[in-house]
Amino acid sequence: MPFNHNDRYHPRLVRLVPPGARTALDVGCGSGRFARRLAAHGLDVEGIDPSAEMIGIATATGSPGPGTVTYRHEDVTTAELPQRRYDVITCLASLHHVPFETVTRLRTALAPGGVLAVLGLATPSTAADHATWLGAAPVNVAARLLVHVGERLNGGADDEPRAPVRDWIMSMADVRTEAARLLPGSTVRTLLFWRYLLSYRSV
Ligand SMILES: C[S@@+](CC[C@H](N)C(=O)[O-])C[C@H]1O[C@@H](n2cnc3c(N)ncnc32)[C@H](O)[C@@H]1O
Repeated sequence: MPFNHNDRYHPRLVRLVPPGARTALDVGCGSGRFARRLAAHGLDVEGIDPSAEMIGIATATGSPGPGTVTYRHEDVTTAELPQRRYDVITCLASLHHVPFETVTRLRTALAPGGVLAVLGLATPSTAADHATWLGAAPVNVAARLLVHVGERLNGGADDEPRAPVRDWIMSMADVRTEAARLLPGSTVRTLLFWRYLLSYRSV
């Protein structure tokens, strides 16, 4: 598996899980890597994705436990989401596949004290955004090289089919404006590898 910018942020996302959390929804779960990681932390996770191929891979891979993972072959914009249910809702590189307003459905599905965490993609707006993402280029080259060497030493990597991807249309300024409007109190941070982290805690 080549250096994966989304997976690189799994530990940071796991740190956002509130203490005592039991239930999670991973939106656009793809092959289920992050859903399984949450289950490994003891959460009962639902992964939702409209790609039959991805849900097939995720289901076949199973769950490491101790939490459970259930996969839903559905579109998050039309799926029935129970209100005030999930302690954690995550979107890893998936929110730009749907209208940003979808966060209001996710906000409603959060249990009191629950956290919505979005690892998102958007075009840089400010000088600071540009500077951060410019700095990613050399680190990215070094990381890819290290991963490549590691894989060669380990006899090669297993190739997994890629999850569907889509170009993004929002800028970081759009994300900040819409997050402030739809998720008051949320924070948006620019991350190194051409990503942002939006986090919101339900009251
Ligand atoms: C770039 S992939 C990211 C997959 C996974 N989160 C990861 O980090 O590897 C985006 C995922 O969003 C899913 N997706 C696209 N439209 C969606 C929708 N309407 N509802 C839920 N997921 C969607 C795609 O099928 C794809 O698996």
